[in-house]
Amino acid sequence: MLADNIRRNEDGTLSFAGHSVPALAQHYGTPLYLMDERRIRQNCRMYLDAFRENFGDAALPLYAGKAAAFLQIYRIVGEEGMGVDAVSPGEIHTALRAGFPAEKIFFHGDGKTDADIAYGVSQRVGWFVVDNEGELLQLDAEAARQGVVQKVLLRITPGIDPHTYREISTGTVDVKFGVALETGQAFAFVQKALTLRNLDVCGLHCHVGSEVFDESVFEDTIDIMVGFMEELHRRLGYVTRMLNVGGGYGVRYLATDKHVDIPARIAHVAAHLKARTAEAGLPLPYFLMEPGRSIVADAGMTVYTVSTVKRIPGYKRYAIVDGGMTDNPRYCLYKAPYTVLNADREADFSAVFDLAGRCCESGDIIQPAVLLPDDTHRGDHIAVCTTGAYNYSMASNYNRLGRPPVVMLTEEGSYVAVRRETPDDLCALDL
Ligand code: LLP
Repeated sequence: MLADNIRRNEDGTLSFAGHSVPALAQHYGTPLYLMDERRIRQNCRMYLDAFRENFGDAALPLYAGKAAAFLQIYRIVGEEGMGVDAVSPGEIHTALRAGFPAEKIFFHGDGKTDADIAYGVSQRVGWFVVDNEGELLQLDAEAARQGVVQKVLLRITPGIDPHTYREISTGTVDVKFGVALETGQAFAFVQKALTLRNLDVCGLHCHVGSEVFDESVFEDTIDIMVGFMEELHRRLGYVTRMLNVGGGYGVRYLATDKHVDIPARIAHVAAHLKARTAEAGLPLPYFLMEPGRSIVADAGMTVYTVSTVKRIPGYKRYAIVDGGMTDNPRYCLYKAPYTVLNADREADFSAVFDLAGRCCESGDIIQPAVLLPDDTHRGDHIAVCTTGAYNYSMASNYNRLGRPPVVMLTEEGSYVAVRRETPDDLCALDL
């Protein structure tokens, strides 16, 4: 199986986090997002333990809420002791309503408006990760207006190609995020920030991409960032006290995908950072990473019911289900691969199906060419694995479809963390 929280029971039915998937589908209805709470906590602890072992108290992993943001997720990661990377007032509001401490929130984003900046300062978020000079100047003015000194990290574009798909690569020179090193703009950005009296420039941030498997990406990033830290020290006398190298470790969507040994990778990254800063004669900065996908992806599974199986002789077979690109747009957007299983039974004979959604759009494919039992039919339950990251958070109401509920699975049982959207919810904003 793809992950150790997915199993086949003796009767052929699928279980997830120790619970029968068909029984959950029966109880809660479909489409349904399931989340394995224990796995989320284990993933947080994997980062927290590795950070503690390698950096002592001088490091913190932040959960990147963009991967999945709702009250209960923030409660869970907060209880575990993570910080949070938030990219919008909505994510900050959700985290605060969940009781998450504002001082452990890092406010990201390349397009923060004046209102966003005023909101973040007023909520006393710990750090702003400042993306550009316009934001920098506005933040300084706003901090002055509210009578605070705002801690900031400055987002630098290191010029690294993380060898992931283009839509989620963010470290190369020409991306829209941060300020580029290569062009000399990053140096001017830091120089400018250091003149602003209402900002405390704590350090630097970078993020090179998502779904990263390459061994050397973070080490290469550190080489570049420490090189820049050295330059800032030499030319400006500035000591970088914090370094955030972003998120991005890849997860397995298919059994053939590589497994990233995250604790081992963190140990390498730590050793590399220590060696490079020592060589440069710089103190080791407080270390941050901000994983999203690797905290929640393998804690998720989506369950559907087949509405129809359509055979087009000589062409293909579709299994059409009661969800679609509305609850999982990732194949449509990125051609993202997924493992798809019939949750009710295994088969002696399998056939190739395109798993399609119910939206009025021929591109509404959840996953093409998946192997399912030959006799898969209306009423069968279909499980799509590894949907914990960027599925609920990217869901839409296209075709006026309500978003599925998020049901958390624990050792003791299950509970609803986000309820199903009703037709009335869909009209709630209409006047
Ligand atoms: N930090 C920053 C600044 C980011 O932009 C991201 C992701 C992360 C952290 C978290 O990266 P992760 O550990 O989750 O790879 N919607 C796309 C993914 C977009 C990622 C955006 N940034 C997808 O569904 O694959």
